[in-house]
Amino acid sequence: MSSEKVRKLFLRFFEERGHKVALSYSLIPDDPSVLLTTAGMQQFKRYFTGELDPLKDFGSKNTVSIQKCFRTSDIDEVGDESHLTFFEMLGHFSFGEYFKKETIEWTFELLTKTFGINPERISATVFEGDTDVPFDKESFGEWSKLLPKERIGKGSRAAGNFWGPAGIEGPCGACNEVYVDGVEVATLVFMEYYCHSDRKLKQLVQKGVDVGWGFERLVAILQGTRNVFEIDLLQPIVSKIRERVPQLNEKNQRIFTDHIRAGVFLAADGLRPSNKEAGYILRRHLRRLLAYQIKYDVHSDIFPTVVKIITEKYKSFYPELKKEKEILKVFEDERFRFQKTLCQGILEIERCHSRNEKIDAQKAFYLYETFGLHFELIKELAPKNLIEDLKKEDFDKEFEKHQEISKAGAEKKFGGHGLILDTGELKAGNPEELKKVTRLHTATHLLHQALRDVLGDSARQMGSDVNAERTRFDFTFPRKLTPEEIKKIENIINQKISEDLPVSFKELPKEEAEKTGALHFFKLKYPEQVKIYFIGDSFETAYSREFCGGPHVTHTGEIGEFKIIKEEAVAAGVRRIRAASFMLK
Ligand code: ALA
Repeated sequence: MSSEKVRKLFLRFFEERGHKVALSYSLIPDDPSVLLTTAGMQQFKRYFTGELDPLKDFGSKNTVSIQKCFRTSDIDEVGDESHLTFFEMLGHFSFGEYFKKETIEWTFELLTKTFGINPERISATVFEGDTDVPFDKESFGEWSKLLPKERIGKGSRAAGNFWGPAGIEGPCGACNEVYVDGVEVATLVFMEYYCHSDRKLKQLVQKGVDVGWGFERLVAILQGTRNVFEIDLLQPIVSKIRERVPQLNEKNQRIFTDHIRAGVFLAADGLRPSNKEAGYILRRHLRRLLAYQIKYDVHSDIFPTVVKIITEKYKSFYPELKKEKEILKVFEDERFRFQKTLCQGILEIERCHSRNEKIDAQKAFYLYETFGLHFELIKELAPKNLIEDLKKEDFDKEFEKHQEISKAGAEKKFGGHGLILDTGELKAGNPEELKKVTRLHTATHLLHQALRDVLGDSARQMGSDVNAERTRFDFTFPRKLTPEEIKKIENIINQKISEDLPVSFKELPKEEAEKTGALHFFKLKYPEQVKIYFIGDSFETAYSREFCGGPHVTHTGEIGEFKIIKEEAVAAGVRRIRAASFMLK
């Protein structure tokens, strides 16, 4: 089924059920709480609260839309199979008319009848309830009429079954998550509360519905492609990039595709590259593209060529993309500005030359950061005698050191929501995310120990990164893990979770702490007094002991079911595991 058809069928389905089509809102919102539009509901916030009257503005209490969205929260994941910075969200909304029954029935009907998905591939989760908001019995009951009980899960806020507010305050409510083959395709939010900036919930004057579907993910399922980059909308872009820059590896081809498409849409909505806020997001995207172009010595006509493919594909649906010349000018202007800083970088190298000053890793990184000169470009441009001792691995180390810092800074500023936790390893934007991150953090400790149980002591942590969606754990190991090993690791962890072991810590002077044999990350420098988190009834008998600053859950039972999503190589001798936890009870 073509993406064009998916759009039409979705809009028609809800039009036939009393919804008025609302045009996509601009990516640059009239809402100071976010930098860019991140969800379909954003343009409707004040209809949910009752401040604005949908009948007056749309002639109906229900709307349907396909919304352009942009999120930086997943930027590090772009290049895998399902993450994008720019994406489209199919959404339908009700401001005080229908509620759970219709929403759930329509979701199921749309999936099975309109899109022809076998009901056996579908599962759903509903909110399990907490001290503020009760268990969503009604949704559970509705899903029970459509799916067998074992495919209806109960999830907590931390598991994603409570959505919102977008920004500091706003409407929010319990939500259902709907999956096809285990891939999340839709979120059904039942707006019942207004969350104030002090996190207190107040009942809304009316109940509302906010449903969002990830368009590219749904199309990927319907087209049976392995990933979003192979759907009919994106495949011609990737394939042109592959043809023009064959040296780019697959991940970078996808990043190129994501960034150029996002750049086109952001520029079309009037955003211009700058050094602050949303403008900086666009600048980063465009400069990454330009860096590839320069690095691989690709003719600059790659930009008009690919931009044309994108505008041709999308302009019938998004007429703002007809301004192709204006969009291209944004790309061209940025290219000239970038080239100018590059020239300054070359002058800086000449200055080093005249002073006979060596270019070490630190200086090379300075050239990269200030003037955009890539390592390879520096090697190319600088006189041999200045770079004799300059090694790629030293440059990479320098790069990593700074990337951690700047990434944390940039995410704080540009994530749209700000971060309430950012240790470099752990990142959370709001209290719900914090809970999820905390669970996954404890799960990561279990994973580290379980890896060593199954693979031996040569499996050592190389790095980890935990956000609300997943934990990413890098470790030394010479080969791919077998499915049996992965299963074994999962089983051990789920066993430890089901034992509901207490999680505690003990503080010790560093030297003493090292003698306990507790795991620690050899690349890090620890303070004189360190905390060792242990999982088990006592320090001596604990299953896992690890140097760590927290935060952790108090008992492993809070983690939920642990699942390894992916295992892959990231470098010679280094493997990467991505895992998540699910609150299916
Ligand atoms: N507002 C919900 C989301 O963004 C549907 O996932």
